Amino acid sequence: MLSTVLGSLSFCYLAGLALYRLFFHPLHIYPGPVLAATTNWYEVYYNLVRGGEYMAELERLHKLYGPVVRIGPTKLHFNDRRAYHDIYSNGTTLIKDAHFYRGFLAHATESSLVFSDPQQSKDRKSLLAPSFSRQAVIKLEYTIQKKVDQLVALLERHYRSPESGVKLSLAYRCLTTDVITDYCFANSTDTLSDPNFAHPIALETRNLVKRIWIQTYFPFTVRLVASVPQGFILWLFPKFTTFMDVKKRFSQQIDNYIKNPEDLTTAEHETIYHHLLEPKDPELRPSRTSLVHEAFVLVGAGSDTVGHACTVGTYYALQDNSIRRKLTEELNEAWPDKGRPLSFIALEKLPYLSAFVKEAIRMSIGSFHPLPRIVGDETPEIGGLNIPPGTVVSMGTYFMLMNPEVFSDPLTFNPDRWLVEDTSEMMLDFVPFSKGLRQCLGLNLAWSELYLILGNIFRKLDISLVSENAEVDLKLGKVLDYVVPLWEKSEYKAFVKGVHD
Ligand code: HEM
Repeated sequence: MLSTVLGSLSFCYLAGLALYRLFFHPLHIYPGPVLAATTNWYEVYYNLVRGGEYMAELERLHKLYGPVVRIGPTKLHFNDRRAYHDIYSNGTTLIKDAHFYRGFLAHATESSLVFSDPQQSKDRKSLLAPSFSRQAVIKLEYTIQKKVDQLVALLERHYRSPESGVKLSLAYRCLTTDVITDYCFANSTDTLSDPNFAHPIALETRNLVKRIWIQTYFPFTVRLVASVPQGFILWLFPKFTTFMDVKKRFSQQIDNYIKNPEDLTTAEHETIYHHLLEPKDPELRPSRTSLVHEAFVLVGAGSDTVGHACTVGTYYALQDNSIRRKLTEELNEAWPDKGRPLSFIALEKLPYLSAFVKEAIRMSIGSFHPLPRIVGDETPEIGGLNIPPGTVVSMGTYFMLMNPEVFSDPLTFNPDRWLVEDTSEMMLDFVPFSKGLRQCLGLNLAWSELYLILGNIFRKLDISLVSENAEVDLKLGKVLDYVVPLWEKSEYKAFVKGVHD
């Protein structure tokens, strides 16, 4: 009897809630699927059950309903460039949606990327920014060059035939992980020490990323894992060992610097801890937990993003002879003696390489999932619309970078598009690093890495696709959304043919 009453009451509540959301909620005037207006499970279904297919669904919805779609009871997604600029330029009245960020970055909730409070984010960035300014990156450029040289030597030595072809995505992942850990902490993970690029960090990252939606939608799983003895977790999931080891290594380094700050003076070069542990305002000094979380975020945000752009750019250059020829001709002319390094500043002056790097960043998309922001009382109009406070608004970078009105034939990898006289309109909408207060912290480092990696690879090596890759398809239709984009078949193989000067 009691269960019948409870069942009826629950049914009435849910039916009433659905009716309210459909007909009386302030967002009821916006078009979208009925299911999405009544429940957040619409999004969960596409992300979790359909394995990262939400972005493809958003594309379909915009074709059906127009530039603004109600994608959840309290959520709107835009496909309108004006709206993008309105949402992401404004970092003070439109704040990050904590629910989303604390979910997908459950292991780093006290880090710069997750903070929603604009002041907290500003304070942390004031400590991190000196490590990532253009000047700082140029000062530490030699650390990047050292790792790039190591990769070039490995490829030259071990991958000289189609039979010994290498998965470049793994090679680039190893390289960018080593670069970011050396650059930030002077404590490189040295994943390139495995000449097969089979270091567990490189091999396991993809699987780890694939778990993102589980922890985002079911946060109790993270708490559950944290509450169980670590030994048991490692027994259940032995592949976690590598990540636990990495975490331990950075935690130990942090503990050591907290205990013995004088050790900072003997670090191989300046690190983020030189700024984080000795702020002018002692109030801003992060807690130990926050330092560990920050390290985790920097490695995550700074490795695969750059690695992906290299994987995508290299693939298209190897697929299209004319792109590769223009690239190598320009590099050979500007860089006659490949035995001497060419600096980032010199490389970024090369027009074709610059166009190629931009196109690699555009096509690789970087951050794939729409980055949600919450409308506040003071938020001005978004795309000409007055949106009620509390609404979660977003527009995926993908919709900007693939907008055919700005980037003609957007799905084609075409560096030439950047070689026209006036690129100002494209540059305005070229937002792979987002914009405003919450723009990417590491963009100077990312640019420098991309010039150095791709410049060195195409100047010093003659690489070709292993022919089985004729089947490989990096077309964006196959990209899955795990916050970062995952291509089902991006693990193409390449080999080095031998370089002739
Ligand atoms: C091609 C390479 C990269 C791309 C496309 C990229 C893209 C982005 C984007 C779109 C955001 C905004 C995220 C949001 O609003 O939630 C972001 C933020 C961030 N990125 Fe990057 N990123 C790249 C490389 C790097 C590197 C090398 C670092 C290393 C330092 C880095 C560190 C960060 C951090 C710490 C944030 C958080 C900033 C904040 O919330 O205020 N990124 N990045």
